[in-house]
Amino acid sequence: MVKVGIVGGTGYTGVELLRLLAQHPQAEVVVITSRSEAGLPVADMYPNLRGHYDGLAFSVPDVQTLGACDVVFFATPHGVAHALAGELLAAGTRVIDLSADFRLQDSDEWAKWYGQPHGAPELLKDAVYGLPEVNREQIKTARLIAVPGCYPTATQLGFLPLLEAGIADNGRLIADCKSGVSGAGRGLSIGSLYSEANESFKAYAVKGHRHLPEITQGLRRAAGGDVGLTFVPHLVPMIRGIHSTLYATVTDTSVDLQALFEKRYADEPFVDVMPAGSHPETRSVRGANVCRIAVHRPQGGDLVVVLSVIDNLVKGASGQAVQNMNIMFGLDERLGLSHAGMMP
Ligand SMILES: NC(=O)c1ccc[n+]([C@@H]2O[C@H](COP(=O)([O-])OP(=O)(O)OC[C@H]3O[C@@H](n4cnc5c(N)ncnc54)[C@H](OP(=O)(O)O)[C@@H]3O)[C@@H](O)[C@H]2O)c1
Repeated sequence: MVKVGIVGGTGYTGVELLRLLAQHPQAEVVVITSRSEAGLPVADMYPNLRGHYDGLAFSVPDVQTLGACDVVFFATPHGVAHALAGELLAAGTRVIDLSADFRLQDSDEWAKWYGQPHGAPELLKDAVYGLPEVNREQIKTARLIAVPGCYPTATQLGFLPLLEAGIADNGRLIADCKSGVSGAGRGLSIGSLYSEANESFKAYAVKGHRHLPEITQGLRRAAGGDVGLTFVPHLVPMIRGIHSTLYATVTDTSVDLQALFEKRYADEPFVDVMPAGSHPETRSVRGANVCRIAVHRPQGGDLVVVLSVIDNLVKGASGQAVQNMNIMFGLDERLGLSHAGMMP
């Protein structure tokens, strides 16, 4: 049994970790923290967990208690894992961070986008970017995992086959992405209010979103050189889901794109390349650790359109985090994650 600690259990990714780990046959959550809710039984805050975590209550983060776990997930705002990860790693505990703290390899770049100095640049050499479809071998032996963001997961998985095959004009990539409101977390913000977000649809952060450098870093690796990406996120009035519509001009129109995508993801348990002509829906992945992809070339031209959908809280956060844990501990990668999405 893997002994699990969670720092930041009251946010949406924290409760999603609890929901997924409740079904995991080889993991047991022994510590869950919240400074503001210390002492409260988890099922009192989240009644969907009643009957699953009897006796487990939120506690104040304590390095000694967390350091007795085999692995600690950080489901916290950026900066928290910077402060605590070093001590936990020194205690021999593995760390899986769902925040952006260790996603960018360049600490100056991180400081620029997050508006504060990087709090633990000395740990970056140990951090593995936890996208299993790219880094599975490194994840197996990693002590510190940076779980990819939600937009970066859907966008990178959609672009990867084209870039790795070297058949795209890498200088003119476009990612037109839409997210449900839970992507902004559970904290109070005017933009997330029902009367602000419902019955409306808008773009935001067009001049630069924090996920841009993360996506570009991954695409650069896949392309083996520089890429030019225009990334436009949108907020849509649904609770869960990311839909990335990706555009790339191909330099070789003779390539069978359907076969290329199917081959790239043939052995991937959590990437589903749909039949030619499909239009994946976010509701088909709701609650599931799946990225569902379709590739199109409208009117047989040189512009490729890739449609990529995930649940931002599952393959875009907590599900992918559990997938990383399974790989790190030598477990079947699908343990606790093989359920289908919820329809309708
Ligand atoms: N929402 C998504 O779709 C999504 C997807 C991918 C990644 N992420 C990332 O996942 C992380 C968690 O996001 P979230 O929306 O679930 O929750 P959040 O609102 O960012 O974090 C809330 C949790 O963090 C704890 N916390 C806050 N400051 C802390 C501190 N200084 N020390 C210890 N704990 C602290 C809070 O508990 P107390 O304050 O009570 O201690 C609470 O349990 C974020 O970095 C987010 O960017 C989110």
